[in-house]
Amino acid sequence: MCGIVGYCGVAPASKILLEGLKRLEYRGYDSAGICVEEKSDFKVIKRKGKIKDLKEIVPDGLPGSTGIGHTRWATHGEVNDRNAHPHMDDTGKVVLVHNGIIENYQGIKKRLLDEGHTFQSDTDSEIIAHLIASLYQGDLEEAVRQTAFLLKGTYGIAVMHKDEPGTIVGIRNGSPLVLGIGEHEMFLASDVTAILSHTKQVIYLEDKELVKVTADSYKTSDFNSNEIRKTIENIGWELEQIEKGGFESFMEKEIYEQPESILRAIQGRIDRDGATAHLGGLNMTPRQLLNIKRISIVAAGTSYYAGMVGAFLLESIARIPATTELASEVRYKNPVVEPDTLYFAVSQSGETADTLYAMRELQRKGARVLGICNVVGSTIARESDGGVYIHSGPEIAVASTKAFTSQISVFYLLTLLLARMRHLSFEEGLRIVDALEKVPEMIKTILASSKHIRELARKYSRYTNFLFLGRGLNYSVAMEGALKLKEISYIHAEGYSAAEIKHGPIALINEETPSLFLVPNDKLRDKVINNMKEVKARAGKVIAVAIEGDQEVEAIADDVIWIPSSNPVVYPYLMVIPLQLFAFYTALELDRNVDQPRNLAKSVTVE
Ligand code: AGP
Ligand code: GLU
Repeated sequence: MCGIVGYCGVAPASKILLEGLKRLEYRGYDSAGICVEEKSDFKVIKRKGKIKDLKEIVPDGLPGSTGIGHTRWATHGEVNDRNAHPHMDDTGKVVLVHNGIIENYQGIKKRLLDEGHTFQSDTDSEIIAHLIASLYQGDLEEAVRQTAFLLKGTYGIAVMHKDEPGTIVGIRNGSPLVLGIGEHEMFLASDVTAILSHTKQVIYLEDKELVKVTADSYKTSDFNSNEIRKTIENIGWELEQIEKGGFESFMEKEIYEQPESILRAIQGRIDRDGATAHLGGLNMTPRQLLNIKRISIVAAGTSYYAGMVGAFLLESIARIPATTELASEVRYKNPVVEPDTLYFAVSQSGETADTLYAMRELQRKGARVLGICNVVGSTIARESDGGVYIHSGPEIAVASTKAFTSQISVFYLLTLLLARMRHLSFEEGLRIVDALEKVPEMIKTILASSKHIRELARKYSRYTNFLFLGRGLNYSVAMEGALKLKEISYIHAEGYSAAEIKHGPIALINEETPSLFLVPNDKLRDKVINNMKEVKARAGKVIAVAIEGDQEVEAIADDVIWIPSSNPVVYPYLMVIPLQLFAFYTALELDRNVDQPRNLAKSVTVE
């Protein structure tokens, strides 16, 4: 679920492991630990809490230049020192770190207990160390391979054996693992950010692949012991891109970065001459694109809301029936796959288990699933049948912001492409292109008015319940705004279609439940204004995000956040920015950890 770092080389391993784990902090975790091997002895140091707490108990100058480290996001066994990784078997020969979940661990643990094994933790992970130790016959790689046949579930594992000093074996099935190649040193990690400061030469392991690493060598193989020759990839991201760039938090940096990140998503893909878009990675011929009868989008969380914007655009503009579904629900409903439906899996991380498994289920049924991902080389990006990278650059804050606006950018491009192949005229296409190209500048003006949003956040931060209300294209934006507020401020917020409140949520309205309305100047404006009046009539406070100069809104709402007037088709961009800022400043006001909100992880690689 969270992070793995491994090191074989000549430098002090503990330093490199701690630094790597620090870089993985952004993913969210509850405990951390390392194991360093020195002269065939293992030194395990682990504890509940943050990397800085772990650092306090790691002795300076700890010898040893081979080791493994872990950040845990507990799935089995409570969060405590004992359950933190690394875990050893009871002979002390095998030590490992594990990301993921072993689904059949109870049966295995029972058998091992019957055989006389004793356990130190309540984790599912510990049984893997016991299995490897019992299957070991002088070859760690082989023992790991044999163990893999016994495991059901997901895992990324890095493991060491006392009898094979200077060696780490890594294996993956469902949890990412990447090998970094240096000079007389090798790295293993669940995420390249952990090792980027040491090397840019990496090899991504696929599911059901193993790697055996020493300081000067590596060997990749599959579960049947066949050696696999993998290509070494060069990572383009610079470390500075990951660091905060002058902002106090990653979330703030990422919100402010959106004029550029949106540009990165659309640049070079808009074709003004044809009033359309080019999307190279779709792997589909124009004829195949023309034959699409339906579009189905699967995703989770913020990516799901971006998918909802996408489905709305595709249906209303490209005139292709389109729906968005929660990936977690798709997988278990035995979905019907139709040959002329095109599927999209949307995921910033490209590692979200719900989305990945839904994609695999759809593919098993013959679906063509395209990925819309940020992380290059991530599992969804690799396993999808084609797709589009959103090119946001690394998104570190747990709460997604810039990925959302880049994901919707890809849907705008896709809509242009598919709509222009159908009925959308050149002139209408060009109007959308014009509006899209102006978005980054308009966002800059909204960001420049953040002081006012900060004041409002201060004014409203004492409330404990909020409604976020929008309609049409902005309905999903309201849902996203509510999710942002919940995630980072821990204030309860619900996103609804403004039209729906009369069917229930209006019962919540009183002077203690403010409503935040998204009011565009399109055909739904008057209806949303009526909904605002309904709330005001029940003593509810109203904050409106509205189009500059809308006096009617100003007269009704208690407070207004203005956004520039534009082609209503691009309002989701302009509406979401104030909501991100509102959530961000509210969280600051309440002294929350904006980058690493409680209970959340950046990339949810368990179901
Ligand atoms: C966003 O703020 C959330 N932390 C979360 O809902 C996230 O969007 C979701 O887990 C999906 O992640 P993905 O885009 O990496 O698949
Ligand atoms: N399932 C393991 C545990 O609960 C690993 C969790 C993780 O991926 O961090 O310890």
